[in-house]
Amino acid sequence: MRLSFTLNGSPVSLDVPAATRLLDVLRDDCGLTGTKEGCGKGECGACSVLLDGRLVNSCLVLACQAQGREVLTIEGLEQQGQYHPIQTAFLEAGAVQCGFCMPGMVLAAKALVDEHPHPTDEQIRRGIAGNLCRCTGYAKVIDAVKLYAGTPRRS
Ligand code: FES
Ligand code: FES
Repeated sequence: MRLSFTLNGSPVSLDVPAATRLLDVLRDDCGLTGTKEGCGKGECGACSVLLDGRLVNSCLVLACQAQGREVLTIEGLEQQGQYHPIQTAFLEAGAVQCGFCMPGMVLAAKALVDEHPHPTDEQIRRGIAGNLCRCTGYAKVIDAVKLYAGTPRRS
């Protein structure tokens, strides 16, 4: 099928088999390897992208579902060589750990603050609940979200 959608602000049009996952189109056809494959079944969040601003697991989304829509990947956050403020917040909070979970975590955090500009701790926890880190924990990620949202951080 012919698939046309907007990827990180630019139009993309390509031929893909009908059952292709969005994750594979992003990584294999578009070369955007910031989106990772962890579990491949909707449980880890490593493949998170924003589809029309909504956080989705791209391993569970068929590419055809992106037809005519807007996809934002981690690569699309940076503008003209400048980090997006949420990326800066993650850096400043010391929340950037491994490159495997972080792309999805950052996009989950962006979606969360887009929906809740001043999130409570509970909203932050729920917002990143689908993005698993297997090693260090979430305290600095929560700090990063608060820094980005301008809400008080842990003392
Ligand atoms: S790879 Fe998609 S949720 Fe784990
Ligand atoms: S820091 Fe990425 S999985 Fe733990």
